[in-house]
Amino acid sequence: MKGNKNMTTSKYGIELLHDPSLNKSTAFTEAERKALGIVGLVPDVTETEDLQLSRVMMQLGHKTTDLDRYIYLVNLLDHNETLFYRTVMSDPARFLPIVYDPTIGEACLKFGHIYRQTRGMYLSITRRGKVKEVLKNWPQRDVRVICVTDGGRILGLGDLGANGAGIPIGKLELYTACAGVPPQYLLPMYLDAGTNNEQYLHDPLYLGLRRNRPSTEDLYSFVDEFVEAVQEAFPKCCIHFEDWTGVDAVHLLQRYRDKYCVYNDDVQGTAGIVLAGMINAAKIKGTKLSDEKYLFLGAGSAGIGLANLLCSALVKEGLTLGQAQSKVYMFDINGLLESTRTDLVDFQKPYAHKHAATRDFVAAVESIKPTTIIGVSTVGGAFTQKVVETMSRLNEQPVVLALSNPTERAECTPEQAYTWSKGKAIYAAGIQFPPVHLNGKTFLPGQANNFYIFPAVGMAIVATQASRVTDDMFIEAARAVADQVPSDLLNQGLLYPLQSNILETEIQTAARVSKLVFDSGLARVPRPADFVSFIREHVYKPEYQPVEVIEAAKPEAIRPPSQAKTAS
Ligand code: NAI
Repeated sequence: MKGNKNMTTSKYGIELLHDPSLNKSTAFTEAERKALGIVGLVPDVTETEDLQLSRVMMQLGHKTTDLDRYIYLVNLLDHNETLFYRTVMSDPARFLPIVYDPTIGEACLKFGHIYRQTRGMYLSITRRGKVKEVLKNWPQRDVRVICVTDGGRILGLGDLGANGAGIPIGKLELYTACAGVPPQYLLPMYLDAGTNNEQYLHDPLYLGLRRNRPSTEDLYSFVDEFVEAVQEAFPKCCIHFEDWTGVDAVHLLQRYRDKYCVYNDDVQGTAGIVLAGMINAAKIKGTKLSDEKYLFLGAGSAGIGLANLLCSALVKEGLTLGQAQSKVYMFDINGLLESTRTDLVDFQKPYAHKHAATRDFVAAVESIKPTTIIGVSTVGGAFTQKVVETMSRLNEQPVVLALSNPTERAECTPEQAYTWSKGKAIYAAGIQFPPVHLNGKTFLPGQANNFYIFPAVGMAIVATQASRVTDDMFIEAARAVADQVPSDLLNQGLLYPLQSNILETEIQTAARVSKLVFDSGLARVPRPADFVSFIREHVYKPEYQPVEVIEAAKPEAIRPPSQAKTAS
C-alpha cells in the first residue's frame, strides 16, 4: 500500500461516518450516500473540500488562544482525518506551531484536563509479560513507525508522565503534515512506568499510573519486552524514541540501534537539524565545519547527540575522531566538562578535555574561544548579554544557536543576539521567532526545528523499508536540508528552508536519504530508478478518495435472505 489508503471498507452507515479515515462528512456524493447507507445521516447538501476548509478556517478564526485552536484541530482529526491534514498542510507555517511546538507544551501540561478522545496506545508497566497481546489490540496490522515516550523529559518541561502522551501524537502528525507519510502507518505510544511528578500524582484528572518511576533496570526490562514484541507484531516497523530523559535516551539508543530499526529524535534528529544550521553558518562565513570550535551549554541527550553527529561529520571532512572531539567543548549544570570531573556519564567523557574547572560560562567562552555556542540547556536567558558580547569580541561572525524550547526556555532571543552582537551574530533558535529589524537591516532568524529532519528520514525509512537507522542518514538529511536554502535568504542570515514549502523540502530530503539507504544495503524493497519519483509515489495527499463498501458488509448480506427480501 502506498500513498493514500485503499478506501474499500467493511464499515457501513453510521459506523463508517465514525471512522475519521473514511469520513468525508458533507462531501460524500449522492451515489456514495446511497451505496454506503448514510442518506439522512449527514446534512442533505454536497460540499466541496474547499468549502469545508473555509468553514474550518472560519471556526478557527473564532478561537482566541492557540490551545483552543489545538483542541479544535485535535477534535477535527478525531472526526475527519483528511480535512485535518488538508487544513494543516494548507499553511504549514501557521499550523505547525499549533499542532506541535510551542502549543504542544501547554497541551501536554494540561493533557489530563483537555483529554477528550483516545488516540494511539497506552502501555503500562503493569502489563509486563503481556505486551505482545496488548499490541494485537491495535486495529492496523501494517504499522511502519511507532513514536514512543515514557514522558521522562517532555520538551524542556521535565517529567510529565502520562501528560507526555501528547508528544508522540503530535510528532506523528508531523510525519504526515511535513513529509506526507501516510497516517495509517503511524502509531503513537505512551509507555507508562509511573512518574516522579508530585503535582500530577495528586491530580485526580491525571491519566497515568499513580506511582513513582521504577529502577532503571526495571524500566529497561519493560522497554526490552516492548521492543521485542514490536518486532513480532509489526515486522516492518521503525521505533522512534522521543522525550526520554537524556541518559535513558542515549542508553536505550545504544542498546537497540545495532539490532533493530530504531532511532532517537532528540539525539539524532535534533543533531541533524542543528548540523544543517552549522553547515549553512559555515557557508555564510566561507569556512568549513572543521575550521570552527564549538561550546555547548547543556550536555544532555540533545547536546550529546549533536556532538556525536557533528564529530561524525568532521571525520567525513578528514579529521580523526580524536581531532574532531577536541573541537567540541561542553558545559552543563555543574560547569565545564573537563577531565577531573567525577560526575560524568560514560557518553560525556569524550568531551571532557584537559582544562581548568569552571562554573562560569563567560569565563569558559573567554578561555576556549569558541566560534559557535549551542544552547541545549533548557535554561531560558542563559546566553546573557555578557556571553553574546564576549562571543562578538572574539569572533567577526559569532554563531549563536539558542535551541531550547518552549519559547521561554530559549537561551536568548534573536532580538537580543542581533542587538548585543551589533548585527554580527548568525543566529537560530529552537522555535520560530519573527524577523528582526535592526539599523535598517532585516534579519531572518531560522528555526532549528527537527521537523525538517525526522519526517523526511521517517518517509525514507517507510518507503525503503530500511532495516536499520544510521547516523549517516541524519548527516545526509542535514546536508539535503542545508542545500535547500536559497542564497538570497542565506545572505539574510536564514539557516533553514522556509516552512511554507516544507512538503517539497522534505520530499527532496527523503529522496536523498533513501538513496543512501539503498547504497548502504539497508533497503528491503527493489531499488528505484529515480528517488524523487519513488518518494512521491508514497506521499499521502489530503484529498478525499472514492469510498466503497464490501458487499458482505451491506445490510442485505447481513440479514437472513427471507428478511432481506421482505425488507425490500
Ligand atoms: P536534557 O535534560 O537531557 O539535558 C539538559 C542539559 O542541560 C543537561 O546536561 C543539564 O546538565 C544542562 N543544564 C541544565 N541546567 C543548566 C544550567 N543552569 N547551566 C548549564 N547547563 C544546564 O535535555 P535535552 O534532551 O538535551 O534537551 C535540552 C533542550 O534542547 C530542551 O529544552 C529541548 O526542548 C531542546 N531541544 C530542542 C530541539 C530543537 O529542535 N530545537 C530538539 C530537542 C531538544
